[in-house]
Amino acid sequence: MTSHTTNPTPTTVLITGANKGLGLEAARRLGAMGWTVFLGSRDTGRGQAAVDKLTADGANVTLVPLDVTSNESVAAAERLVREHTDRLDVLINNAGAPGHFVAPAEATAEELHGVYDTNVYGPVRVTHAFLPLLRASDNPRVVMVSSGVGSFAVVTDPEQNVAKLHELAYSSSKAALNMVTVRYAQALPEIKFNLLTPGEVVNKKFTATDMNGHRGQLTVTEGTDPFIELATIGADGPTGTFIDRLGPVAW
Ligand SMILES: NC(=O)c1ccc[n+]([C@@H]2O[C@H](COP(=O)([O-])OP(=O)(O)OC[C@H]3O[C@@H](n4cnc5c(N)ncnc54)[C@H](OP(=O)(O)O)[C@@H]3O)[C@@H](O)[C@H]2O)c1
Repeated sequence: MTSHTTNPTPTTVLITGANKGLGLEAARRLGAMGWTVFLGSRDTGRGQAAVDKLTADGANVTLVPLDVTSNESVAAAERLVREHTDRLDVLINNAGAPGHFVAPAEATAEELHGVYDTNVYGPVRVTHAFLPLLRASDNPRVVMVSSGVGSFAVVTDPEQNVAKLHELAYSSSKAALNMVTVRYAQALPEIKFNLLTPGEVVNKKFTATDMNGHRGQLTVTEGTDPFIELATIGADGPTGTFIDRLGPVAW
């Protein structure tokens, strides 16, 4: 018998970049399931507005000021979450930056650095800081929000539109995140580390959010289907996998 069957306390989740877009919708859906949601937002005003909205709908949501590019902010966020709970069941590393989609010939190391700071070093900062709280859970899960463009199989497929999207920073940052996640999964079998893309790779669809000027074909509810799937996997669930809402994504 696990402590979850003897201890009815709700599942706890921290979502980074949850003041809008996919992160906010994941917070809404998990909050509606009765989970205790720690809503990460680098801007307190935007974060509080999101918390107020979800709280008005009856969810248990706490604002966590959190800029994933700042060690100090991540440390303060960990202290704040620890004031509310002695364990974190699920961490969703969702915060992401698209960069400026500079042509490769024009791209500088500075351009890449800014994007990597959010998309690669950010999840590492947050995961590292929250490992002790995750380890205190019976079934800790880390969900990494990647992208179809982080897949070598996708960007080298001439049938995929992104094969012609000439860009260095964003796609390579998500490819790095994929490798980081696989390496965590191998080294820390007691924690499930899985990746998702909020699109439908085979159908070349992505989710309409501010990040893409709302040009995506999927709603945020559809785009968060794999968030919910990976956040709710059981103790016998997978680790080190990469999925979209339709199934596995090729590396
Ligand atoms: N939409 C898609 O189809 C799609 C496809 C592939 C991957 N993704 C990934 O999905 C994730 C969510 O993106 P979205 O589409 O929901 O875009 P979005 O609506 O623009 O949301 C991005 C979120 O990340 C936050 N953020 C950015 N930098 C941050 C930082 N340094 N610290 C903390 N939070 C930060 C933003 O906060 P502010 O509001 O303060 O800017 C915002 O809350 C990203 O990782 C993105 O790469 C999306």
